[in-house]
Amino acid sequence: MHADMQITPTKPFILRCFLISLFLSLPFLFLYLFYPQQQQQQQHHITTKDLRIRPGYSSYESYIQRQLNKTLNPKLRKIWTTRDWDRKIPVFARFFEDLKVNKKLLKNTSKALCIGARVGQEVEALRQIGVVDSVGMDLVPYPPLVMKGDFHNQPFQNDTFDFEFSNVFDHALYPQRFVAEIERTLKPEGVCVLHVALSRRADKYSANDLYSVQPLVELFKRSALVHVRSVDGFGLDTEVAFRKKGEPLRRHRL
Ligand SMILES: C[S@@+](CC[C@H](N)C(=O)[O-])C[C@H]1O[C@@H](n2cnc3c(N)ncnc32)[C@H](O)[C@@H]1O
Repeated sequence: MHADMQITPTKPFILRCFLISLFLSLPFLFLYLFYPQQQQQQQHHITTKDLRIRPGYSSYESYIQRQLNKTLNPKLRKIWTTRDWDRKIPVFARFFEDLKVNKKLLKNTSKALCIGARVGQEVEALRQIGVVDSVGMDLVPYPPLVMKGDFHNQPFQNDTFDFEFSNVFDHALYPQRFVAEIERTLKPEGVCVLHVALSRRADKYSANDLYSVQPLVELFKRSALVHVRSVDGFGLDTEVAFRKKGEPLRRHRL
């Protein structure tokens, strides 16, 4: 028999198999391409009754750029490092002194981080009251008080800090990520204190609006609520403190 005559019947068969497997794999291809994106959005972009992400950021880059536009403004930086410096440090120092002396949530030996610290007034306040191992983190560094970092992806190892403070929760585009990073970098039993605005809307650079403490309690999955109280902190009216629960979780940075 001629060689061609043996091969010819297998060709349509192989082609058919190829087309069938291509057809069967299409749903998986579709899932691969689109599911992670959807899942990511659901994971990060939580919007609940009491926590709403502001619309209008077309991309993460546009969110960062908007934050930078203000933080890098030379005129504002001048004000923050002169007039505001003397006005705000004593106020921060009073908050921290109270957390140390009355609430026992902070010690002189605590390793402390201030998130979204801009030019580091709160870091300076911590150092002045004796918490000398304190550092700030912001998109824009301001050495030696503030190092560069994005709070959605903190540049620190797991279980690094005893105490973390932030008054910029409203600037988080991904609140879930903001909190997960705090819980990752806090040591077990470490304390996080947030100053947030509940009864008024924060500034136009905010990325979310918070209407009660409940979303925070839900986001701090690895921590216990310590206290909620009223404060008068530069337009922020509520202090919420959490303590991270026991055992360290051994995993790599997110
Ligand atoms: C309202 S200011 C607060 C400054 C400072 N905590 C104070 O009380 O003076 C918000 C700060 O958050 C910073 N910020 C915004 N998004 C950030 C991000 N993704 N990671 C780190 N810092 C961020 C901004 O650069 C800005 O300095």
